[in-house]
Amino acid sequence: MAKLKVGVLISGRGSNMAALIEAARAPGYPAEIACVLSNVASAPGLELAQAAAVPTAAISHKSFADRESFDRALSAELDKHGIELVAEAGFMRIHSPWFAERWKGRLLNIHPSLLPAFPGLRVQQQAIDAGVRISGCTVHFVTAELDAGPIIAQAAVPVLPDDTAEMLAERILRQEHRLYPQVVRWFAEDRVHLDRGRVLVTGAPTLLFSSQP
Ligand code: GAR
Repeated sequence: MAKLKVGVLISGRGSNMAALIEAARAPGYPAEIACVLSNVASAPGLELAQAAAVPTAAISHKSFADRESFDRALSAELDKHGIELVAEAGFMRIHSPWFAERWKGRLLNIHPSLLPAFPGLRVQQQAIDAGVRISGCTVHFVTAELDAGPIIAQAAVPVLPDDTAEMLAERILRQEHRLYPQVVRWFAEDRVHLDRGRVLVTGAPTLLFSSQP
Protein backbone atom coordinates (compact mmCIF):
# COMPACT_ATOMS: atom_id res chain seq x y z
CA MET A 1 0.00 0.00 0.00
CA ALA A 2 1.20 3.55 -0.73
CA LYS A 3 2.71 5.28 2.26
CA LEU A 4 1.19 8.48 3.60
CA LYS A 5 3.33 11.45 2.55
CA VAL A 6 4.25 13.55 5.56
CA GLY A 7 5.80 17.02 5.51
CA VAL A 8 7.59 18.13 8.67
CA LEU A 9 7.89 21.80 9.65
CA ILE A 10 10.77 22.83 11.88
CA SER A 11 12.49 25.97 13.13
CA GLY A 12 15.46 24.58 15.04
CA ARG A 13 17.14 21.48 16.42
CA GLY A 14 14.82 18.94 14.80
CA SER A 15 15.02 16.07 17.28
CA ASN A 16 11.32 15.26 16.84
CA MET A 17 11.79 15.43 13.08
CA ALA A 18 14.72 13.00 13.44
CA ALA A 19 12.54 10.65 15.50
CA LEU A 20 9.91 10.70 12.74
CA ILE A 21 12.52 10.06 10.03
CA GLU A 22 13.96 7.19 12.07
CA ALA A 23 10.53 5.63 12.67
CA ALA A 24 9.63 5.96 8.98
CA ARG A 25 12.73 3.95 8.06
CA ALA A 26 11.19 0.79 9.51
CA PRO A 27 9.87 -1.32 6.63
CA GLY A 28 6.33 -1.70 7.95
CA TYR A 29 5.85 1.95 8.88
CA PRO A 30 2.86 3.32 6.93
CA ALA A 31 4.16 6.88 6.38
CA GLU A 32 7.18 8.45 4.72
CA ILE A 33 8.77 11.79 5.53
CA ALA A 34 8.60 13.33 2.07
CA CYS A 35 9.97 16.78 2.91
CA VAL A 36 11.23 18.92 5.77
CA LEU A 37 10.62 22.67 5.57
CA SER A 38 11.97 25.36 7.84
CA ASN A 39 11.35 29.06 8.23
CA VAL A 40 14.94 29.36 9.50
CA ALA A 41 17.69 28.62 6.94
CA SER A 42 20.25 27.87 9.67
CA ALA A 43 18.04 25.38 11.55
CA PRO A 44 20.29 22.44 12.52
CA GLY A 45 17.43 20.05 11.74
CA LEU A 46 17.75 20.83 8.03
CA GLU A 47 21.22 19.29 7.96
CA LEU A 48 19.99 16.22 9.81
CA ALA A 49 17.23 15.80 7.23
CA GLN A 50 19.66 16.24 4.34
CA ALA A 51 21.98 13.65 5.88
CA ALA A 52 19.00 11.28 5.91
CA ALA A 53 18.36 12.06 2.21
CA VAL A 54 15.04 13.79 2.91
CA PRO A 55 14.29 16.76 0.60
CA THR A 56 14.43 20.07 2.44
CA ALA A 57 13.62 23.71 1.79
CA ALA A 58 14.08 26.88 3.81
CA ILE A 59 11.46 29.57 3.33
CA SER A 60 12.10 32.61 5.48
CA HIS A 61 9.01 34.28 6.88
CA LYS A 62 11.02 37.51 6.75
CA SER A 63 10.76 37.56 2.96
CA PHE A 64 7.00 37.99 3.10
CA ALA A 65 4.85 41.01 3.84
CA ASP A 66 2.41 39.15 6.08
CA ARG A 67 1.67 35.84 7.75
CA GLU A 68 -0.69 34.59 5.06
CA SER A 69 1.65 35.16 2.13
CA PHE A 70 4.35 33.21 3.97
CA ASP A 71 1.85 30.43 4.70
CA ARG A 72 0.80 30.32 1.05
CA ALA A 73 4.42 29.84 -0.02
CA LEU A 74 4.85 27.11 2.60
CA SER A 75 1.70 25.42 1.41
CA ALA A 76 2.80 25.57 -2.24
CA GLU A 77 6.06 23.84 -1.27
CA LEU A 78 4.15 21.14 0.62
CA ASP A 79 1.92 20.62 -2.41
CA LYS A 80 4.98 20.29 -4.63
CA HIS A 81 5.94 17.21 -2.61
CA GLY A 82 2.40 15.77 -2.64
CA ILE A 83 2.12 16.11 1.14
CA GLU A 84 -0.99 14.60 2.76
CA LEU A 85 -0.19 15.25 6.43
CA VAL A 86 1.80 18.10 7.97
CA ALA A 87 3.61 17.51 11.26
CA GLU A 88 4.94 20.57 13.05
CA ALA A 89 7.96 19.70 15.15
CA GLY A 90 9.33 22.73 16.97
CA PHE A 91 7.97 25.05 14.29
CA MET A 92 7.87 28.39 16.05
CA ARG A 93 5.46 30.34 13.84
CA ILE A 94 1.80 30.99 14.40
CA HIS A 95 -0.22 30.16 11.30
CA SER A 96 -2.70 32.35 9.51
CA PRO A 97 -6.35 31.26 9.64
CA TRP A 98 -5.93 30.56 5.90
CA PHE A 99 -3.27 27.88 6.55
CA ALA A 100 -5.23 26.31 9.40
CA GLU A 101 -8.26 26.01 7.11
CA ARG A 102 -6.25 24.80 4.10
CA TRP A 103 -4.74 21.92 6.13
CA LYS A 104 -7.67 21.39 8.50
CA GLY A 105 -7.67 17.86 9.91
CA ARG A 106 -4.25 17.20 8.33
CA LEU A 107 -2.05 19.46 10.44
CA LEU A 108 -0.49 18.17 13.68
CA ASN A 109 1.70 19.75 16.33
CA ILE A 110 3.61 18.47 19.33
CA HIS A 111 3.74 20.63 22.43
CA PRO A 112 5.81 20.00 25.60
CA SER A 113 3.02 20.22 28.18
CA LEU A 114 -0.21 18.48 28.98
CA LEU A 115 -2.52 20.88 27.15
CA PRO A 116 -4.69 22.77 27.86
CA ALA A 117 -2.26 23.49 30.72
CA PHE A 118 0.67 25.72 29.79
CA PRO A 119 0.25 26.81 26.18
CA GLY A 120 2.80 29.20 24.69
CA LEU A 121 6.51 29.44 25.46
CA ARG A 122 8.83 28.44 28.36
CA VAL A 123 6.25 25.85 29.26
CA GLN A 124 8.53 23.65 31.39
CA GLN A 125 9.28 26.64 33.63
CA GLN A 126 5.56 27.40 33.75
CA ALA A 127 4.91 23.82 34.93
CA ILE A 128 7.62 24.04 37.61
CA ASP A 129 6.41 27.44 38.80
CA ALA A 130 2.85 26.13 39.07
CA GLY A 131 4.04 23.25 41.25
CA VAL A 132 2.39 20.53 39.17
CA ARG A 133 3.52 16.95 39.90
CA ILE A 134 2.84 15.66 36.41
CA SER A 135 3.63 17.18 33.05
CA GLY A 136 4.28 15.74 29.62
CA CYS A 137 3.59 16.34 25.97
CA THR A 138 0.59 16.58 23.71
CA VAL A 139 0.07 15.84 20.03
CA HIS A 140 -2.91 17.80 18.77
CA PHE A 141 -4.55 19.06 15.61
CA VAL A 142 -3.61 22.63 14.81
CA THR A 143 -6.33 25.24 14.54
CA ALA A 144 -6.05 29.00 14.12
CA GLU A 145 -5.93 29.34 17.92
CA LEU A 146 -2.47 28.78 19.48
CA ASP A 147 -1.96 25.36 21.16
CA ALA A 148 -5.72 24.86 21.39
CA GLY A 149 -6.70 22.31 18.72
CA PRO A 150 -8.26 18.90 19.49
CA ILE A 151 -5.95 16.62 21.49
CA ILE A 152 -4.97 13.32 19.88
CA ALA A 153 -2.60 11.77 22.45
CA GLN A 154 -0.55 12.65 25.50
CA ALA A 155 2.43 11.24 27.39
CA ALA A 156 2.86 12.00 31.08
CA VAL A 157 6.07 12.30 33.09
CA PRO A 158 6.70 13.17 36.75
CA VAL A 159 7.88 16.64 37.74
CA LEU A 160 10.52 16.12 40.45
CA PRO A 161 11.14 18.52 43.33
CA ASP A 162 14.64 19.53 42.17
CA ASP A 163 13.87 19.76 38.47
CA THR A 164 15.21 22.63 36.42
CA ALA A 165 13.36 23.57 33.25
CA GLU A 166 16.15 21.85 31.27
CA MET A 167 15.84 18.59 33.23
CA LEU A 168 12.08 18.54 32.79
CA ALA A 169 12.38 19.44 29.09
CA GLU A 170 14.76 16.52 28.56
CA ARG A 171 12.42 14.07 30.33
CA ILE A 172 9.46 15.29 28.28
CA LEU A 173 11.45 15.23 25.03
CA ARG A 174 12.17 11.52 25.41
CA GLN A 175 8.42 10.94 25.48
CA GLU A 176 7.85 13.28 22.53
CA HIS A 177 10.14 11.05 20.49
CA ARG A 178 7.98 8.03 21.38
CA LEU A 179 4.60 9.69 21.02
CA TYR A 180 4.87 11.57 17.73
CA PRO A 181 5.82 8.58 15.54
CA GLN A 182 2.95 6.64 17.09
CA VAL A 183 0.41 9.33 16.30
CA VAL A 184 1.63 9.69 12.71
CA ARG A 185 1.32 5.92 12.37
CA TRP A 186 -2.28 5.98 13.64
CA PHE A 187 -3.09 8.80 11.26
CA ALA A 188 -1.65 6.86 8.33
CA GLU A 189 -3.68 3.84 9.42
CA ASP A 190 -6.83 6.00 9.37
CA ARG A 191 -7.48 5.43 13.05
CA VAL A 192 -7.72 9.12 14.03
CA HIS A 193 -11.16 10.68 13.75
CA LEU A 194 -12.63 13.98 14.82
CA ASP A 195 -16.01 13.71 16.46
CA ARG A 196 -17.70 16.96 17.49
CA GLY A 197 -14.41 18.64 18.36
CA ARG A 198 -12.92 15.63 20.16
CA VAL A 199 -10.56 13.06 18.74
CA LEU A 200 -11.28 9.35 18.77
CA VAL A 201 -8.44 6.94 18.07
CA THR A 202 -9.48 3.39 17.40
CA GLY A 203 -7.56 0.46 18.79
CA ALA A 204 -4.70 2.25 20.56
CA PRO A 205 -4.06 3.74 24.00
CA THR A 206 -3.70 7.51 23.65
CA LEU A 207 -2.10 8.11 27.03
CA LEU A 208 1.45 6.98 27.78
CA PHE A 209 2.94 7.07 31.26
CA SER A 210 6.60 7.26 32.03
CA SER A 211 7.79 7.06 35.61
CA GLN A 212 11.46 7.20 34.64
CA PRO A 213 13.21 10.26 36.06
C1 GAR B 1 10.00 20.32 21.38
O1 GAR B 1 10.07 20.14 22.76
C2 GAR B 1 8.58 20.69 20.96
O2 GAR B 1 7.60 20.05 21.71
C3 GAR B 1 8.59 22.17 21.23
O3 GAR B 1 9.84 22.62 20.79
C4 GAR B 1 10.78 21.56 20.94
C5 GAR B 1 11.44 21.35 19.60
O4 GAR B 1 12.50 20.42 19.73
N1 GAR B 1 7.51 22.82 20.54
C6 GAR B 1 6.85 23.86 21.03
O5 GAR B 1 7.12 24.39 22.09
C7 GAR B 1 5.73 24.36 20.15
N2 GAR B 1 4.82 25.16 20.89
P1 GAR B 1 13.04 19.68 18.44
O6 GAR B 1 13.36 20.76 17.39
O7 GAR B 1 14.30 19.01 18.93
O8 GAR B 1 12.00 18.72 17.96
